[in-house]
Amino acid sequence: MSEPKENSKILIVDDIQTNIFVAQCMLDGCGAEMLTASSGEEALSIVKETELALVLLDVHMPGMDGYEVAQIMLANEQTKNIPIIFVTACNVDSEHIFKGYESGAVDYLLKPIDQRILRSKVNIFLRLDKQQRQLKTKHKELQKAYYDINKAQSELARSKKLASIGQLAAGVAHEINNPLGFVTSNTNSLQSYFNDFKMLFQLYRALEQAIVEQKPEAAVHSILKDISKSKQQLDFDFLLDDIKDIFSETKSGLERVKKIITNLKVFSDAEVEENSSIGIEQCIESSLWLVKSQIQKEFKIEKSFCKDVELICNASHIKLALMNIILNAVQAIQENGVIRISTEIRDDDIIICVQDNGVGMEQEVLRDIFNPFFTTKAIGEGSGLGLSVSFDIIKQHNGDINATSRPGEGSEFVVTLPLARTTDKVAATSS
Ligand SMILES: Nc1ncnc2c1ncn2[C@@H]1O[C@H](COP(=O)(O)OP(=O)(O)OP(=O)(O)O)[C@@H](O)[C@H]1O
Ligand SMILES: [Mg+2]
Repeated sequence: MSEPKENSKILIVDDIQTNIFVAQCMLDGCGAEMLTASSGEEALSIVKETELALVLLDVHMPGMDGYEVAQIMLANEQTKNIPIIFVTACNVDSEHIFKGYESGAVDYLLKPIDQRILRSKVNIFLRLDKQQRQLKTKHKELQKAYYDINKAQSELARSKKLASIGQLAAGVAHEINNPLGFVTSNTNSLQSYFNDFKMLFQLYRALEQAIVEQKPEAAVHSILKDISKSKQQLDFDFLLDDIKDIFSETKSGLERVKKIITNLKVFSDAEVEENSSIGIEQCIESSLWLVKSQIQKEFKIEKSFCKDVELICNASHIKLALMNIILNAVQAIQENGVIRISTEIRDDDIIICVQDNGVGMEQEVLRDIFNPFFTTKAIGEGSGLGLSVSFDIIKQHNGDINATSRPGEGSEFVVTLPLARTTDKVAATSS
């Protein structure tokens, strides 16, 4: 442990200056700073202002005696723990000794003082004082370290949220690229079909003009021949069917993009609207969708949701919390993976339950899952922050999260959130 910066302090209290001088000489070189007081009143004003390792207190003094000084010190929160050694000239009977201990003395010394006894007793208290001050310094250092760790932890949690959003952006880019690909290819086909139709339309126009202008029959025939040739080449029936398909495919692609954008919007809106009202079903669907956009895996999903339940919450954070839980479940499942998500109302709470039939967890793992950086995944596969972020978010919403698991059988996460508002009709549906 590091050495305290200042020397320990001893207060010597005696109404006779010679006694003080003798005690000072005896303690010379003990490593402590010596303060003196010649009355009880003076001693009290010093003890209130100074951090002392020990008070050597004469019992018999005119005015306030040693017992009185000790009792006042004992009654004061600030001074009650300062050790006192009574110094007395009289023969100490057991009644006096008891009175002294009752008023807060830790020891007695008889006059004339034996230097070896005085120094060895004082040394014990100086050692204690040194240790106590070292502990105080350590305590302060630990408090600061604790504060720094907490600060670093919340900064990490924040960066994990940002990282999740980054991860999400990558997933979203992939999701958008797919429909964008076929919408672009469909647009190219439509462009080429349009050119074919345009050419045919121009032929019909030329035919109309030839008839109106009463051009020779041969000219009209030649245009009619071009028209029938083009029609043969274009395969109209196929074109019309294909255009119909192209439109419906393009429409569904654009709808997918629209859905992606709606989901993403919730994230950007959330920073603005801390406490919005959101349907819990929509919240879960969104989280599920976010998971699916990040992980390509086949699994069965079973849902059982209460209808029309609304929460007042930071919607993006709740979605992120649920997304982390569902993502873990999807990562845990293997072949024939099933994930069950259900909601239930209990008193004034909504209970959201996410169950999987994945690898499950041993008790030692389960104990630590909400701790930041705890992960059983390989380096680069998991940062161990997902559940700690979920935990923080749910606690911030005055909710609770619990997990149970059986190795080889699966896990269940139960999130409890206080309900903001429920409508009258709460009906369970399954899909
Ligand atoms: N449904 C689950 N089934 C089995 N193990 C789980 C499940 N959920 C969590 N765990 C365990 O809890 C650990 C901590 O989960 P957490 O989500 O905090 O971190 P991670 O998934 O390892 O990494 P990150 O989420 O930061 O990418 C996981 O590594 C895993 O061992
Ligand atoms: Mg995780």
